[in-house]
Amino acid sequence: MNLGLTDKVAVVTGASKGIGLAIVETLGREGARVVAGSRTRTPELAALCERYGVTFVPVDLGEADGPDLLIHAVAERHGRIDVLVNNLGATHPRTGFLNIDDAEWRTVFDLTFFSAVRTSRAALPHLLADDGGAIVNISSINARLPFPAVVDYSAAKAALSNLTKALSEEFAPQGVRVNAIAPGPVRTPFWTDPGGFAEATAAGTGKSAEETLDEVLPRQMGISTGRITEPREVAELSAFLVSPRAANITGAEFVIDGGQIKTT
Ligand SMILES: NC(=O)c1ccc[n+]([C@@H]2O[C@H](COP(=O)([O-])OP(=O)(O)OC[C@H]3O[C@@H](n4cnc5c(N)ncnc54)[C@H](OP(=O)(O)O)[C@@H]3O)[C@@H](O)[C@H]2O)c1
Repeated sequence: MNLGLTDKVAVVTGASKGIGLAIVETLGREGARVVAGSRTRTPELAALCERYGVTFVPVDLGEADGPDLLIHAVAERHGRIDVLVNNLGATHPRTGFLNIDDAEWRTVFDLTFFSAVRTSRAALPHLLADDGGAIVNISSINARLPFPAVVDYSAAKAALSNLTKALSEEFAPQGVRVNAIAPGPVRTPFWTDPGGFAEATAAGTGKSAEETLDEVLPRQMGISTGRITEPREVAELSAFLVSPRAANITGAEFVIDGGQIKTT
């Protein structure tokens, strides 16, 4: 299926690895002019810059002025914006609600929620000016399944899912669609990096991080398909949602979790 994304200008946040990197790759392959925002350019992102002419903007999106800097750079480079993927989000394993101070709550909200608020606010005037466009927010199943180990992150993702609906209501009449994707566990450096969530989950179980991701986690979490999600699968759903093929889809949230959530 041709998604009709050729020459669309697409901004992706948190783009140097994991899901963001996969989204950059998929949009680049579809012919979009992609701008990737993150603090560093990994070798994998550098390869995509080379292969698909992706523009890298080094930016800390946890800082209040980071989103403006990113969107300003895109407008200068391309003069228009058609697509925004708010992919950035971050969490740390918590030992309990009583051990999380205000500064930690603020950091998680800055990265997971306010980065999307600020980047959307900066990008929307451009999206509105150029025949409309589309935003996809990468939320999480934790927006509706708030685990104690990620209590702050879950609350920030719930806010992001809620924001998605409000923005979709306000801007649909002016041609901007806003949707969300809520993944369950996805095989990204967040899990696979040394010291990442897979190692933390495996600790004391006698299983390796890899075995934990492939076998233990899907079983423990009740993932019906028996496996976690691959970044490419989230990226392909994102590309569809921002494409003209999804022209009448807005205010929706798509769960991609292998059947982990059991309610309708
Ligand atoms: N992985 C999962 O299981 C899972 C499940 C559900 C939802 N999600 C959501 O999916 C999104 C992507 O997750 P992921 O697992 O792919 O993350 P990841 O592997 O940890 O990658 C995070 C990305 O964000 C960038 N980043 C971090 N801090 C930043 C900052 N201050 N400013 C700009 N960029 C920053 C990182 O690049 P730099 O370090 O170079 O800045 C990197 O490119 C997040 O919103 C996450 O909450 C993930």
